[in-house]
This record gives sequence, structure tokens and C-alpha cells, in this order.
Amino acid sequence: MIKVIAKNFAKEDKVEQVIALAKELVAKSVQEVGCLKYELYQEEHTPRELVILEEWETKEHLDKHMASAHFKSLIPQMSALMDKEPEINTYQILTVKGEDKIENEVLRVIRNRKSTRTYQSEQIREDELEAIIEAGIQAPSANNGQPWHFTTIQNKELINHISSKSKELMIETGVEALIKIAKSPVNIFYDAPTVIVVSGKEDVRSAIVDCSAAIENMLIAAESLHIGAVWVGLAKFFFTFEEESAKIDRPAGYKPLFAIAVGYKKKQSTSGPAARNHEVKTYMR
Ligand SMILES: Cc1cc2nc3c(=O)[nH]c(=O)nc-3n(C[C@H](O)[C@H](O)[C@H](O)COP(=O)(O)O)c2cc1C
Repeated sequence: MIKVIAKNFAKEDKVEQVIALAKELVAKSVQEVGCLKYELYQEEHTPRELVILEEWETKEHLDKHMASAHFKSLIPQMSALMDKEPEINTYQILTVKGEDKIENEVLRVIRNRKSTRTYQSEQIREDELEAIIEAGIQAPSANNGQPWHFTTIQNKELINHISSKSKELMIETGVEALIKIAKSPVNIFYDAPTVIVVSGKEDVRSAIVDCSAAIENMLIAAESLHIGAVWVGLAKFFFTFEEESAKIDRPAGYKPLFAIAVGYKKKQSTSGPAARNHEVKTYMR
């Protein structure tokens, strides 16, 4: 994660104008992919000192931000209203919540991964798809059995069919929470352009666990490529019906277990991953 602290010094009589432009910059920047935080502050005793605090997932995201149309149009307008050159510094985070913590790219990606539930319609690239599936193939499995098969579905009609059939079956359960999801207008894959069905080998007892490890690898790989993904357990309603799951191309002897929806994130939410309970640790030394 990268933090930017940009101190701006507005001309005494231009403070309000700078604030208005900076607010516009904030509103547009928080919509950008990779933007974790973009906030405007005013110094308590020196109102002309306006500070923008930014957090970006990676340097690449920050570079894209600085090349964006809104940045290029608003920054010169703001600069014209300044008293002196801004002080801009970029920082790499070394500690989290005041604790010294080990930090590296893998840990950052694991921490930043979260379920994506709004997607762009643009299809992901072939090399990105292959990298995600390859990450699944690299997962650990009991006795290195690798009892998995990955079926990529990019046929919108089939994706929608799996969703609407699953929804029909969810309604039949009579379970209120499932009925509520089934009645929502979005499909169970959140209209992602790619769905990867993970099937497990029927005669391997550890298939569900092994396939789950593969899925987690794929979700992390997707995040590392700034691609959104979500594990969709609800597709199991479709898979329970032989005649329906027969529509998923796969080798004989493999049963579809889970699906993941994959696609470019529509917009980066400013919140982090869903809250985690850390009171789950016991040490026996
Ligand atoms: C086995 C399993 C099934 C899941 N099924 C769904 C699903 O059908 N739809 C959905 O939106 N999210 C589903 N999820 C995602 C979880 O809701 C999500 O991982 C959890 O809320 C934590 O949020 P995070 O992934 O953003 O950290 C599933 C996750 C797992 C592990």
C-alpha cells in the first residue's frame, strides 16, 4: 500500500475555490480502481493549508491516477490558486495499527482480497484467465491428488441460465434468506463476464477440500492482477440437478462443486475487506 500526503497552500483569498476543486478531485478519485482512501483536510490554525491524504493499493494505481483526465484538468486549476509549490510525499507503509508487522506483496494481496460484487462487462484477457486457473492448479491437494477440473464459462446465456435455475431452486427451499437473494434483480454471479466452475473428482474423498484450496488460490491470484472475483456457493443449487449440471462441460467422473465469478471490478469500494475477528488464536508452546 502506498500513502501520499500532498500539502497545498492556497492564496489567502482563494481558499474556498481550492476547496471546491479539491472536493471534485476527491469525488472522482475515490471512484478509481486501486484507490483505498482519498481525503481532504484543512489545517486547524492555517485554513489556507489544505492537505490531501491518499492511499493506493500499488504504485501502478497511483501512476494511473496521475495520468487520469480529472487529475490532469483539476491539478493545474488548483495550482493557479496556490501561494507556493505543494509539498508532496509518498510513503510505503511499514506498520499497521501501530504494530510492527511483516509486510510483503503476497500478504498485501491476501489482505486486500475481498469478494467483488459489481463487475464491468468487458471480458478479462486470455492471459489473465490462464494465470488465474494456473494458480488453482498450483494449490496443495491431499496426496497431490489434484482432483479438480476447471470449466470456464463466458457464454452469457449459459451464465444467466445457471443463475435463474439456481434462483428457482433457492425459492423452492422456502428459506427466507435464500428467497430474498433469489428475488434480487442481479444474477448470482453479479453479471461477471466469466464464471469458472470447479468440479471435483467423484471418487476422491478430499475433493471438496482440495477444490476449495484451488479456489482460494484463484481468488488471490485474481486480486494480484487487480481483477475482481467472488466464490459463488449458491451455484450448488444448479449443480444438484444431474440434467442441469450435465450442461457444464467436463471430463466423466467429475462433479461440479463451486463456481467463481471473475471480471474487472466496476469500482473500488473505499472500505477494506469484510471485518475479521482476530480472537481466534491459541498458542501452545
Ligand atoms: C464456500 C463459500 C461460498 C460462498 N458463496 C457465496 C455466494 O454464493 N455469493 C456471494 O456473494 N458470496 C459468497 N461467498 C463469499 C463470502 O460471502 C465472503 O467470502 C465473506 O463474506 C467474506 O468477505 P470477503 O470475501 O469480502 O473477505 C462464499 C464464500 C465461501 C467460502
